[in-house]
Amino acid sequence: MSGSEADRRIPNQRAHTRSRMSIDEKISKTLNDLDAISPEAIGELFGEVTSALESERKALIAAGAGDGRERSQKVKDLRDRWLARKGGLVSLIDENWLKKAPKELKPAVGRAFNQLRQVATCVDTESLLQEVRVQADVPVRLVAHAGVEFTAEVIRGQDLTLPGYRQPMGSIHPVTQVMREIEDIFLGLGFSIESGPEIESVYYNFDALNIPESHPARDDWDTLYVNSETVLRTHTSPVQIRAMEKHGAPLYILCPGKAYRHDNPDSTHATMFHQVEGLAVDRDISFADLKGTLDYFARKFFGDKIKTNFVPSFFPFTEPSGELSISCVFCGGEGCRVCKESGWIEVMGCGMVHPEVLRHGGIDPERYSGWAFGLGVERFAMMKYDINDIQLFHQGDVRFLEQF
Ligand code: PHE
Repeated sequence: MSGSEADRRIPNQRAHTRSRMSIDEKISKTLNDLDAISPEAIGELFGEVTSALESERKALIAAGAGDGRERSQKVKDLRDRWLARKGGLVSLIDENWLKKAPKELKPAVGRAFNQLRQVATCVDTESLLQEVRVQADVPVRLVAHAGVEFTAEVIRGQDLTLPGYRQPMGSIHPVTQVMREIEDIFLGLGFSIESGPEIESVYYNFDALNIPESHPARDDWDTLYVNSETVLRTHTSPVQIRAMEKHGAPLYILCPGKAYRHDNPDSTHATMFHQVEGLAVDRDISFADLKGTLDYFARKFFGDKIKTNFVPSFFPFTEPSGELSISCVFCGGEGCRVCKESGWIEVMGCGMVHPEVLRHGGIDPERYSGWAFGLGVERFAMMKYDINDIQLFHQGDVRFLEQF
């Protein structure tokens, strides 16, 4: 072996031995002993020190907290190991590497050492305690937010510098949005909101609304009976009776809420759906008030271009009764598949409150008159957003819901 070959080999062997030394051993030697005589080798050494520091810090955080005293002790140990003035690894690097560095390498070592000192502040007692404490809270916070149980076991040993679990933002359900929009329009007209029970007596759901048991109209509401006296309300109209009893006249109210029917689910029927009903009772209320108000409402909701049309109909609790149609929102009245080529879409039932119903609400029909309407919120949402299946609202599919 020639001399020059031997010269080339020795540093390699040393470098090999060096890589097997622990970081503490390396720090106890001089750069010369370690054969770190080039700026690259120095950079590499300091890199090793920094990753050792990082992984010790992470291991402590990931090991979890234990009780308060154990936590403080572990934090103090790690801090002392690195930052103690006497015998701390950073001081030893100062002594053994920086101070003993050959002159020409001093600037490079000095720079690397300063960086290390800055990085090493991550194991000072304050910041470390803070992180260990946060870590102690992590399982609780994750359970609370995600509803998923991440135990300390799962978290231990994970890389806590990875980005957190992202909480998807929720949004207001389209049915609720449309319901609020309808409410806002009527609140602006001076109406107030009333609510009542969804499990309702047969009296409020039917009898008080002028639908006696013998009356065939009861069959119009496919009713879910709880028992012979109690039903799941088939409409929110019973709230109108309750409100009349409670407040008397004059009365301007809106009754939004859930209603239930024994319908087979299809693209336009659901067992549970939402209604908004309205009631105005005052002196000299006429059909003109009904027409004017509902026309105003339809334009506010669907846009100024909409035309309204009232068609005679029948409800036991209103006389006369009507259906309000609007010019088709899809074709502008020209005729299309949705409006069945008629140019019009029926959107709600309405009428002048039957004197018998006022009487049941404790209001004298000789002195007062009123009008009422009832609409299906899902149907309004379907028209507004061009949705063709009512079931989509109730399936809770996020891909559908996040579009609103
Ligand atoms: N209660 C009726 C229904 O559920 C709607 C309606 C309310 C009709 C008020 C006229 C007046 O179908």
